[in-house]
Amino acid sequence: MKVNSVRLAWVAAVPESFPKDARPQVCVLGRSNVGKSSLINRLINRSGMARVSKTPGRTREIHFYLLDDRFYLVDLPGFGYAAAPEAIRRTWAALMESYFDRRDNLAMGVQLVDIRIDPTELDRQLADMLVLRKIPFVLVLTKADKVSNNHIHTMVERAPKVLDLPPGTPVIVTSSATGAGMKELSHAIVGAYASAKKKPAEGETPETP
Ligand code: GTP
Ligand code: MG
Repeated sequence: MKVNSVRLAWVAAVPESFPKDARPQVCVLGRSNVGKSSLINRLINRSGMARVSKTPGRTREIHFYLLDDRFYLVDLPGFGYAAAPEAIRRTWAALMESYFDRRDNLAMGVQLVDIRIDPTELDRQLADMLVLRKIPFVLVLTKADKVSNNHIHTMVERAPKVLDLPPGTPVIVTSSATGAGMKELSHAIVGAYASAKKKPAEGETPETP
């Protein structure tokens, strides 16, 4: 994706710290260690922008990256890599719920699933958060450099079924190591941003063509 400027504009651990402006947002979600931060870095061609975890599950806040001062790419915290205390799980779930409940400016979700592993119950819960709120999203199968082409074909068929996704949900196979799938994903994101921009924000008068 061609971006001239990227800024980590907001880091939020509570809903009060979410950005209050009406710029469209595209969020990246998935289990801890699935490759969210790596994908964001690769997408925007900034290797050190989003912090890639050495210790999985470290990111507890929502990171809002402002691209070209026009829209936010949002790195949502992961979960589910290691057994975590119930209290932490609850805090995480509450933060995610409140993010999705304020979905006014959310143009699209990008749900990541590791192509090497069958989607888990947690992946299903994440998909449900989006489906229930009618948030449009694409499924991204990450780390494709680690598996055979045969496995890729199998998972492209299998993952949407295991997750019980609505028919027609786009599936994109990516690798942050090789850059595979990034063009396709950029295309989906830019398309969602463009259609969100056309929709007038609450209180605004729609533009006449
Ligand atoms: P949390 O912030 O803990 O939720 O993790 P995350 O989803 O942001 O994952 P992150 O990008 O930090 O990547 C986790 C690990 O997977 C790192 O060691 C990355 O280098 C590795 N990784 C991510 N994407 C790929 C990929 O496409 N291919 C390969 N081979 N490794 C990857
Ligand atoms: Mg991360």
